[in-house]
Order: sequence, then structure tokens, then C-alpha cells
Amino acid sequence: MKTVSPAPGAASTPAITVETLEALARPAVKKQALLRFGVIGYGYWGPQLTRNLDRLPIGEVAYIADLSPDRREVAHFEFPSAHVTSDIDEVLHSAVDAIVIATPIRTHYDLARRALDSGKHVFVEKPLTAESAQAIKLMHQAERMERVLMVGHTFMYNPAVEELRRLMQSGALGRLYYIDAVRVNLGLFQRDINVMWDLAPHDLSILSYILGKHPQRVSAHGGAYVRGQIHDVVYLSLEYPDGLLAHLHMSWLNPSKVRRFTLVGDQQMAVYDDVEATEKIRIFNRGVDSPNHTSTFGEFQLSYRYGDIVSPHIHWSEPLAVECRHFAECIMEGAAPRSDAREGLRVVQILEAADASLAADGAFVPIAYSDELQQL
Ligand SMILES: NC(=O)c1ccc[n+]([C@@H]2O[C@H](COP(=O)([O-])OP(=O)(O)OC[C@H]3O[C@@H](n4cnc5c(N)ncnc54)[C@H](O)[C@@H]3O)[C@@H](O)[C@H]2O)c1
Repeated sequence: MKTVSPAPGAASTPAITVETLEALARPAVKKQALLRFGVIGYGYWGPQLTRNLDRLPIGEVAYIADLSPDRREVAHFEFPSAHVTSDIDEVLHSAVDAIVIATPIRTHYDLARRALDSGKHVFVEKPLTAESAQAIKLMHQAERMERVLMVGHTFMYNPAVEELRRLMQSGALGRLYYIDAVRVNLGLFQRDINVMWDLAPHDLSILSYILGKHPQRVSAHGGAYVRGQIHDVVYLSLEYPDGLLAHLHMSWLNPSKVRRFTLVGDQQMAVYDDVEATEKIRIFNRGVDSPNHTSTFGEFQLSYRYGDIVSPHIHWSEPLAVECRHFAECIMEGAAPRSDAREGLRVVQILEAADASLAADGAFVPIAYSDELQQL
């Protein structure tokens, strides 16, 4: 978030953000909101969600709740039209249509359960819950109550990921050999979860979305360097039934920010670099062809192909805006979200297996998808 330096001596007032300035520039005439949202959690990510939900032509954020007085003060300053409170029940029993939860992971289940109990549609930030049993309960509860339950797998709404999915579906890469994903930077260290639970939901949801298939075994190993107990660096290997290998490197302890996804096929290769401003995806017409195996070493030759590099044009929209619009549309149309509770559950089950592997020094652990996911 960009901030504008406060005036000298104004340290006690909340930072003036670009979002604040945009809010002040909004037209005085209030739109006719069809959907009213309550946001719970106004830390780092809650304000991003609030800004995008409030900008929906048919939506407004009517309530914001946070336990921290400092964050409530900022919320009040940035969204003066919203009712800001520390009392979650006040939001749950208000007339809002949907609750958006952007609090630490350990709180997701209880807040989502209570929001569904109140008859609200619910959006929960990633990962859906801290345990798969909780995700299953929420999924059944939402189905029973005919409410939308969506998880914030933001990258499933990213236009570059959409382009990658199109590329995969076109078959242009040929048979996919392996995928390598790197998501590293310095911070933000989380208090109660390791780096895998923080960052892997992004890559796992991208893999699920672009491949349409799911890993069967996982191996994880890493290091807990800064705080001794909580892993801040993890290397995760995922094996798919057809031999595809995906490798994820996650770290809060890296000097530079890297967000790179490399896909290597037998026809072409592609790199998705989320940090790149314009050419987010590059497709390399490169590869190695192996002639028919010959009997003597002297006859053994590989031929390398070095062809064009193409960067497809991506019609860009802010992924979070696309995601918020999708949530609103699912509520209005009674449709299942792209990142529904099943997607959320699948990610949590992979993370649980990965945790078991971390504890077993990187041994491969089968991923036990629950019956709810087998039925698909
Ligand atoms: N989709 C994404 O790209 C993305 C990015 C960042 C964070 N997230 C997710 O958003 C969620 C929040 O992350 P964050 O970085 O904003 O955390 P944060 O710690 O910065 O903010 C959490 C806020 O929730 C408040 N809070 C805690 N418990 C509460 C409760 N019971 N009721 C009301 N308020 C409560 C805290 O006071 C704090 O202000 C996490 O699930 C995280 O994984 C998603």
C-alpha cells in the first residue's frame, strides 16, 4: 500500500493512503447497493478486500470489524460510511448479505461457521481453514443452508493465470514434463503458521486451476531459521499420477521478491513471472529432441531447438477486483464459485500431508483426499 508521509507531529493519526485519497474523491451521490458486505479483519489484507468490494457497482461495505483499536481507527478513517466495530455479533446480526473474513487462519473456521449460522454468504481468505475436518464441516453447512462459501484463492482470478490455463488447454506445450514455482521474498513472517500455509495456497490453487488434476503424493522439507519452530523456508515436491512433477519453493527469507512459474513441456516451455509488469508470460519454442535410441555411445545425439519467444497480450484487470465481482455474481445468481469450498478443502488436505512430510524429514506422504473430493 502506498502511503503519503504524514505532516510533522501527526504521528498519532492513521497513515494517509492512496485508498484514502481515492475515497475522498468519490462522488457524493451514494449508489443503490444491492449487496451489503461486512468485513471481519482489517489488518494487511482486509483493506484491499474492502476497497474492491466497496467499488462494486452493486455493492457496499456496510460493516467493518476488527479486535484492534488501531485498525478500527484506520478503518473508520478510510471508510467513514461503514459502521466500524469490535463486536463480531453486531456484524453477524446486521442486515448485511455477506461476510468477508480476512483474519488469521486459526480464526477462519469459527468466524465462518458463525457467519453461515447467521444466514450470510461467506468469503474466507486463504487457506479456508487450519484443518481439513473444519473445511468439510463448513462445506456441508453452506450446502445445507444454500449459502455461497468462497475461498480467497486470488490467483484463480488473475488474468495471467487465466492465460496459462488457456495455454495448457491448447496443448501448445505438448506433454508436460515438470513445473517449477518460486515464491520468495523477505517477510512477512506470520506468527502462528509456517511459510507453506501462508504461500503455498497460491501455487496449489494455480496448479489445480491450470492443470485440472491433482497431486497424489507430496514431500516437503525446509528450515526454521529465524524463530526455531516455524518453518520460514520450504521446498515442496508434488507427484501427479501421470508422472508430472511440480516443485514449489517458498521463503520469507530471501533478499529479492521472486514470483516465477516455469512449465516445461516436450514441445514448448513457458515462464509466468508475476513480478514482471508487461510481459508476464513468455512462451519459448525451445526443447530437446532425443532421436531413436542407438546402441553405441558415438551415435547418441540430442538435438536442441532454439525457436521464437512469444509473449501473449494479457488484458489486465486487478485479480482482487475480478475475485470480488465473482463473489457478488455467485450470490446474485446462486452459482458455485470457481474457488469453492471443495477447492479450499483440497488445498488444506495437501498442506496437511505436506506438514506430515515436514515432520518425517521430507518422506513422501500420500495425499488422502476425503470422500467429498473423490465424488467429483
Ligand atoms: N489472497 C491473498 O493474496 C492474501 C494476501 C495476504 C493475506 N491473505 C490472507 O488474509 C488473511 C489475513 O491476513 P493479514 O495479512 O491481513 O493478517 P493481519 O494480521 O495483518 O490482519 C488480521 C487482522 O484481523 C484482526 N483479527 C484477528 N482476530 C480477529 C477476530 N477474531 N475478529 C476480528 N478481527 C480479528 C487483527 O486485529 C488484524 O487486524 C489470512 O488468511 C491471509 O492468509 C491473503
